[in-house]
Amino acid sequence: MQKLNYRELKRNFLFFDFFPSIFYRFKINSTNILASKLIKQVKNNFIVIADSQSKGKGRFNRKWLSPCCKNLYFSMVLQKNYIINFNTLLFVTTNSILKTLLQYKKGFQIKWPNDIIFNNKKISGILIENIYSNNKIVSQIIGIGININFNFFRIRELQNSAISLKNILGKEISREKFFVKYIKNFIDEYNNKEYSFEYWKNNLAFLNKNIRFHYADKIITGKFISVKENGNIVLEDKNKNILEYSIGEILL
Ligand code: BTN
Repeated sequence: MQKLNYRELKRNFLFFDFFPSIFYRFKINSTNILASKLIKQVKNNFIVIADSQSKGKGRFNRKWLSPCCKNLYFSMVLQKNYIINFNTLLFVTTNSILKTLLQYKKGFQIKWPNDIIFNNKKISGILIENIYSNNKIVSQIIGIGININFNFFRIRELQNSAISLKNILGKEISREKFFVKYIKNFIDEYNNKEYSFEYWKNNLAFLNKNIRFHYADKIITGKFISVKENGNIVLEDKNKNILEYSIGEILL
């Protein structure tokens, strides 16, 4: 069991004005939960990172598997004038994860709206939460889980749907190095956010393919024909109806 080397992370963070503080916990319920508590005390942007989570939160109220010392689980918090449009933030965050993974190997793609997949298996997920005060967004919590060194091949229920970087590359990857590369890419992408929609769109998996789409309690079969600038997915069903959704999930 190799804990995150917090000293190494801290040393690298001296160079990141964007995130003046970083908090580490060995074990936590969820980095998003601690981040939401710290918002009251910490006024500038910050990051919470943990080695394991007992209540890792996924989209659609799912649990995010967070075994100790294997993967990356962290939440970045943006405050004050760093707050941006929700969809832009989603593009920036997704693109920066994709760009970091592509520094290790080709073949990663975005599964609408913000998962990263490799050979149709999920390697990372994002959960963005806006925090409001008097109807105004005061903070944005970007929770990120990236499967780095966990061996999904050993778990029968997950081996066809999830994968880690180690499963792909056949060797252990330094979580510290990956994390620092990621933060650099995130800041770069944030600073060039006017291009983020195009890159996001150009790297979407299943565009122009027939897909099954889960929305509310329905499953829609249709062709994934495009996306809108606000991130909505556009499908064409078998009766040539054009359907547009802001939430939902492509089924693999
Ligand atoms: C998804 O369902 O795809 C989103 C998963 C997001 C998981 C990350 S792990 C770090 C952060 N803390 C949480 O509780 N969830 C996010």
